[in-house]
Amino acid sequence: MANGLRVPVGLCITLMCAALRYSLGMTASMIDGRAQAQAVEEAVRSCLASWPAGVAPRLQVVLVGDNPASLVYIAGKERACNRVGISSDLLRLPTTTSTKELLAHLDRLADDVTIDAILVQMPLPEGIDVAAVVSALPPEKDVDGFSPYNIGRLAARWPKVIPCTPRGCMRLIRSTGMQIDGARAVVVGRGWVGNPMSMLLTRANATVTVCHRFTRNMADITAQASILVSAVGIPGLIRAEHIAPGAVVIDVGQKRVEGHLYGDVDRQAGEELAGWLTPVPGGVGPMTIAMLMDNTARLAARRRGLPAPR
Ligand code: GUN
Repeated sequence: MANGLRVPVGLCITLMCAALRYSLGMTASMIDGRAQAQAVEEAVRSCLASWPAGVAPRLQVVLVGDNPASLVYIAGKERACNRVGISSDLLRLPTTTSTKELLAHLDRLADDVTIDAILVQMPLPEGIDVAAVVSALPPEKDVDGFSPYNIGRLAARWPKVIPCTPRGCMRLIRSTGMQIDGARAVVVGRGWVGNPMSMLLTRANATVTVCHRFTRNMADITAQASILVSAVGIPGLIRAEHIAPGAVVIDVGQKRVEGHLYGDVDRQAGEELAGWLTPVPGGVGPMTIAMLMDNTARLAARRRGLPAPR
């Protein structure tokens, strides 16, 4: 039989189980991002504990402005650094910082041999030339994998540094047992998460479609997906008609409204239809931070010739 017509047995079993779950009226299994993140952090912590005494990776975070969501993320990152044994510093710059000023800071951080990893918090204030900023990140310190070199490596399917959130999403998808090889996957969004996410799923042999604001009849496309990743930041964007029964649904969206955090996926629809669903909060968020710890440790290990986490 021609290669393209072969249907993987694992995929058939997964879909049959999902259909059975649905016909029995079962609700989605929640994917425990906190437990997965804990396992990743523990591997990083134990790896760093094996390094010579007094040697620790150093992560430099750069925040321009005072976006409240960014301040929350940064506080979470700092707590995680303390848990695993990474030294972290924050450079806070005013909203009025120009592109030229930010590039001068990045030049200095790039040349600082004591710094292993640099993270420029997104989003940057309007008016800053984001392409110039990510292009100024030295690829060997680019912990987000956002620089043109690292994105290019991923596009070529030879990744060096994989962006933290999509890397975490891949781990969450794999934790369900769903076979990615040959699966139909849909990514909603083509930004910092959606773009590399589609590349990672393609690299894992899924057949990937990307939807965005210009996509017509999006539900016709997303409802075909056994793996659906939404990374937009519009609460309730993904409703019942968008979800295939039994699908693995990864909700990257995180929007704070009146003190509550909402994902892109309508929670009730997700629970009723999906086979597996990441909750918000407690799904993708903790995994992003854990993967940042892992990426930081890997960059430091490479620069210093020390063991990297497993
Ligand atoms: N803002 C929200 N998530 C991220 C992230 O993963 N990296 C950076 N640099 N900024 C972000």
